[in-house]
Amino acid sequence: MENIERLKVAYFIDELKGYNLPEAKAKILNSFVVWQNIYSSAAREITTKLENLNDEFKYVKDRNPIHHIQSRIKTPKSIMNKLIKRGLELSTESARKNLTDLAGIRVICSYIDDIYLIADLLTSQDDVKLIRKSDYIKNPKPNGYRSLHLIVTIPVFLSANTEIVNVEIQIRTIAMDFWASLEHELSYKLPENRIEEITKELKECADVISNVDVRMQKLYNNTILAKNHE
Ligand code: GTP
Ligand code: MG
Repeated sequence: MENIERLKVAYFIDELKGYNLPEAKAKILNSFVVWQNIYSSAAREITTKLENLNDEFKYVKDRNPIHHIQSRIKTPKSIMNKLIKRGLELSTESARKNLTDLAGIRVICSYIDDIYLIADLLTSQDDVKLIRKSDYIKNPKPNGYRSLHLIVTIPVFLSANTEIVNVEIQIRTIAMDFWASLEHELSYKLPENRIEEITKELKECADVISNVDVRMQKLYNNTILAKNHE
């Protein structure tokens, strides 16, 4: 039985495939797998809500506020690294309690106003509860990072009970996403002696990109939106 459990863990967790884990570790990882499934369901619930909103807009307003949606569940390895980094207990309970980004959704919108529209429509739904909002668009991070971050909870209905699950939602424009993706990649690979120079350059790029976002919003307001109001 134990061996089957271990095999199951090794099967589910690709990164650890082939390892013969000690029982205690196998147990922890197994409970991670169970919870990963619940967090996948939560991410799916939110994604469906967003897709439904986007589809309705297409039908009613003849446009899509959402360009695309990405979702990811934090891997056990990454969960453990984060718990260790923060000096927290290594357990599923500890991860659930302390990490709000086990399920993460990234919503890429066409225009800045779409970000706030989507955030308002989603958080006004009965079963979605807003826990925290960080507006890094109105208050960009010092490095130039922009996005609207929401932590929400959503119920996941299981066969025996209902779990209330945290989901981290990052909502940003295509332009903000372009910058964040490249900055994320670059920030890991900066040569020690050029960090200051490159950080400054990246911040300037973020500001240029933000300027373009504002101009594109104005273009939209003066063309498509104005035409719809005629
Ligand atoms: P984390 O421990 O990193 O999750 O930070 P936090 O819980 O204080 O939340 P925060 O809102 O700062 O960041 C959450 C997530 O937003 C990160 O995991 C990244 O995906 C994204 N993010 C935040 N800051 C930056 C940034 O400067 N650059 C990029 N590329 N992404 C960022
Ligand atoms: Mg995070």
